[in-house]
Amino acid sequence: MRTPLIAGNWKMYKNINEAAELATTLKNVLKDVAADKAEVAICPPFTDLQVVSAVIKGTNIRLGAQNMYAAQEGAFTGEISPLMLRSAGVHYVILGHSERRQYFKETNEDINKKIKMAIEHSLFPILCVGEKLEERENGTTFNVIKTQLTGCLAGIPKDKIGSIVVAYEPIWAIGTGKTATPDQAQEVHKFIRETLVSLYDQVTADAVRIQYGGSVKADNAKTLMNMPDIDGALVGGASLKADSFEAIVKFYK
Ligand code: 13P
Repeated sequence: MRTPLIAGNWKMYKNINEAAELATTLKNVLKDVAADKAEVAICPPFTDLQVVSAVIKGTNIRLGAQNMYAAQEGAFTGEISPLMLRSAGVHYVILGHSERRQYFKETNEDINKKIKMAIEHSLFPILCVGEKLEERENGTTFNVIKTQLTGCLAGIPKDKIGSIVVAYEPIWAIGTGKTATPDQAQEVHKFIRETLVSLYDQVTADAVRIQYGGSVKADNAKTLMNMPDIDGALVGGASLKADSFEAIVKFYK
């Protein structure tokens, strides 16, 4: 049984006060979500991690970060290390988000290094994969996803795969209000699992959670989450307000 993971990616929103306020509300409204039904995580900007960590301490809500640099420490101005994330109470780290790939030119090789370093420091990577609109239209979705998975997971042994969550985020569905239909999403999620079978084995692949991300809202969450290979959601815009995030999480209660 895979416990679904509903994670809120706050992206570059919320100052410290706003983050504390949202985390406090979420802590109150989500306190009766059974941990075996769904796992909930929130991923605020770096500057909010410490305050959010203090607010959600002792609850079932986990803390996630949105990026990380692949070194323990050093002269890397502007970067944040896995050790720093650990000391702020971080559990998950989103790696390879399409916005990082697109605007900051992160490659599969960069993401692979980050995943290895995250695992080495007992962080749990949420690896994002997904195709652009033109790739979907020209029929190369599966090739793109396979290349991303193979590149990002290169050299990661089978016994470490259990700490990785994969998030399928079709780029054309992010922030656009356009969601993949449940069938479109399921088709790719199934392909991701089959690719994991070919890279590892069936038992390993069956244990990996694959989230869907891309305009998930309360009104489409249910049909998406009912699909057999969709194990939760990575939520952007709808995670910035307590009521809309709560409505998505409550589907699992
Ligand atoms: P939206 O839910 O705003 O489309 O964002 C999805 C996303 O990028 C989550 O990481």
